[in-house]
Amino acid sequence: MKFTVAIDGPAAAGKGTISRLIAARFGFAHLDTGLLYRAVGAKVAEGAEAIEAAQSLSESDLARDDLRSLEAGQAASKVAAIPEVRRALLEFQRRFARAEGGAVLDGRDIGTVICPEADVKLFVTASAEVRAHRRWLEVGGDEAQVLAEVRERDERDMNRADAPLRPAEDAVIIDTSDLSIDEAADRACAEVLRHRG
Ligand code: DC
Repeated sequence: MKFTVAIDGPAAAGKGTISRLIAARFGFAHLDTGLLYRAVGAKVAEGAEAIEAAQSLSESDLARDDLRSLEAGQAASKVAAIPEVRRALLEFQRRFARAEGGAVLDGRDIGTVICPEADVKLFVTASAEVRAHRRWLEVGGDEAQVLAEVRERDERDMNRADAPLRPAEDAVIIDTSDLSIDEAADRACAEVLRHRG
């Protein structure tokens, strides 16, 4: 059985948590596509050329444990604006989406570019303040600085020419600003059940 769930949205909206819960509940494979861009960004920070890094990405590049930092997020957002980088990562993501047994992919352009035919499309969002606060609880430091970085990344991700962050026309929007994780996950699972039965 092939069944694809596309989950897009800005940083720290809850996509990752919701994706993992859906994957666990329905037994789908899960791909956090942001990790691909983070791994390319990390290689570029070490002096690699962006397109070459994207074309030669390996499992071990994705397993690095320094990919979760704010710096890695910013580096990812920068390389993600390069069309050839996006193109180099496209086929891997499409192949993953067709995994036997179902797949959930989360990112920025899954419902719009990677899997326009996805069975379920969700756009998970929240106010910049709420997202920055959640990220700050994870990483600490100066909350105003975290908010500035969230805004900077939103700005870049939404305004790039190639595959900008935006909801697909047929995406269901889930605003998690005033929802608990459980409430948000329940809504997401209800959408999957509605299409899958
Ligand atoms: O989801 P994340 O925060 O790990 O993503 C890091 C950056 O990677 C994000 O700011 C933009 C980019 N990205 C993208 O352009 N397309 C995706 N499908 C996933 C991430």
